[in-house]
Amino acid sequence: MNTLIAKAEKQKVYIETYGCQMNLADSEIVASIVTSGGYDLTDTADNADVIFLNTCSVRDNAEKTIFKRLEHLKHYKKKNRKLVVGVLGCMAERLRGKLIGKQNLVGIVVGPDEYRKLPHLIDNALAGEQGIAVKLSRVETYDDILPLRTEGISAWISIMRGCDKFCTYCVVPFTRGRERSRPMNSIVEETKKLQDQGIKEVTLLGQNVNSYNDTEGSNDFSDLLRAVAREVPDMRIRYTTSHPYDMSDKLIETMAEYENICNYIHLPVQSGSDRILQMMNRQYSVEQYIERIGKIREFIPDCSLSTDIIAGFPTESIEDHQKTLDLMRRVKYDGAYMFKYSPRENTKAWKMEDDITEDEKKRRLNQIIEIQHIIAKQLNEDEHGKKFEILVEGESKKNEEEWMGRTCSNKVVIFPTKPGISIGDKVMVRVFNSNSATLFGKLV
Ligand code: SAH
Ligand code: SF4
Ligand code: F3S
Repeated sequence: MNTLIAKAEKQKVYIETYGCQMNLADSEIVASIVTSGGYDLTDTADNADVIFLNTCSVRDNAEKTIFKRLEHLKHYKKKNRKLVVGVLGCMAERLRGKLIGKQNLVGIVVGPDEYRKLPHLIDNALAGEQGIAVKLSRVETYDDILPLRTEGISAWISIMRGCDKFCTYCVVPFTRGRERSRPMNSIVEETKKLQDQGIKEVTLLGQNVNSYNDTEGSNDFSDLLRAVAREVPDMRIRYTTSHPYDMSDKLIETMAEYENICNYIHLPVQSGSDRILQMMNRQYSVEQYIERIGKIREFIPDCSLSTDIIAGFPTESIEDHQKTLDLMRRVKYDGAYMFKYSPRENTKAWKMEDDITEDEKKRRLNQIIEIQHIIAKQLNEDEHGKKFEILVEGESKKNEEEWMGRTCSNKVVIFPTKPGISIGDKVMVRVFNSNSATLFGKLV
């Protein structure tokens, strides 16, 4: 969960964000739209006139979290009868009218392509009128809206919206609509502006960034990366998420060519079984995936890799599951996001029988987590003694005297600070210890 901060005075809006980075970026767009529309932001629900939950539908648990939060927000409504509560984002798109009046609380429901209507909907809601706006668009990219970013040295730039891949388990194409890209020039301009504001690192965002397609200039994602890398050579450039099917040679070569494009790729594999990959409509085989990893390792030897894995997809046998574990041992991911399969209404997989029991899904997931833990721990131990340039992000959460930063390969490094070092600096650190999630180093 994340919150956006601002000062008070006019009617105040509080935004709480759940789900993926696209939602974090969208909340900054929402913040920009509501402040331009005459409202202020607040960083706490306690003094808010309007509370927005920007929600996620990707798994059933994500939605359960929101219903629990709504239950809790009833206390705020008791204290302030005029309070307006709005559900935004993917759950708004999925559940639509069913959310209006939910828990005698929800007054506004707005999907991801209708945020321009928010000021109008808030005006009406404060006057006691419920509102719903959930049309998906083939063209909306909010290209002209400058996101209202909170402080920090890193920024998200949303370069496209929607997804056309239709993986059979996934709700995103239904909640976010068809894929559409922003023009390349406007993304490059936004990056330049961020550099002028002191931002040191940008992450280009989309559900499937490597199918980016600039219709104005027929530029693909490699062209965009190159243009950004050249324009802001001192900034670190990251991107997420990429789909293995669209991981072209040109993209890998472009990453290798520019020092400021970070050596880190999130390349979700989902399963290590060809049969399951086919049922998921992932459009690649295990061998094709491994071939892409080979190409990445050949051109960017120190590239770190992370992935997403789903345990217990319909019909997944013990052999299929073993193949996933084998693939993990073969690739050796630096990090992984690991999930139990969760059936989503309207998806193709919804019509398949969810035949793996909850206990069995849990058992398989735990094995996946355990193997990943061992691999990540070993990979981090392999870094002991090596020197890295890290971008300083701030104090470590556990100890004020220690600071944290990230390597270009996206690994978190904790180090004892010394006077003269500030957030946003790049410093050299030698790693001497680690666990599966963190490296520990000393300034050199
Ligand atoms: N566009 C990105 C991210 C999509 S959602 C991509 O394609 O990688 C992030 C992850 O959630 C997915 O990669 C997948 O591993 C997981 N996920 C999506 N739908 C799911 C479902 N129904 N059950 C369990 N995990 C799911
Ligand atoms: Fe979902 Fe697949 Fe699109 Fe990712 S690529 S958002 S998993 S449909
Ligand atoms: Fe969730 Fe929507 Fe992102 S479903 S993962 S918030 S695109």
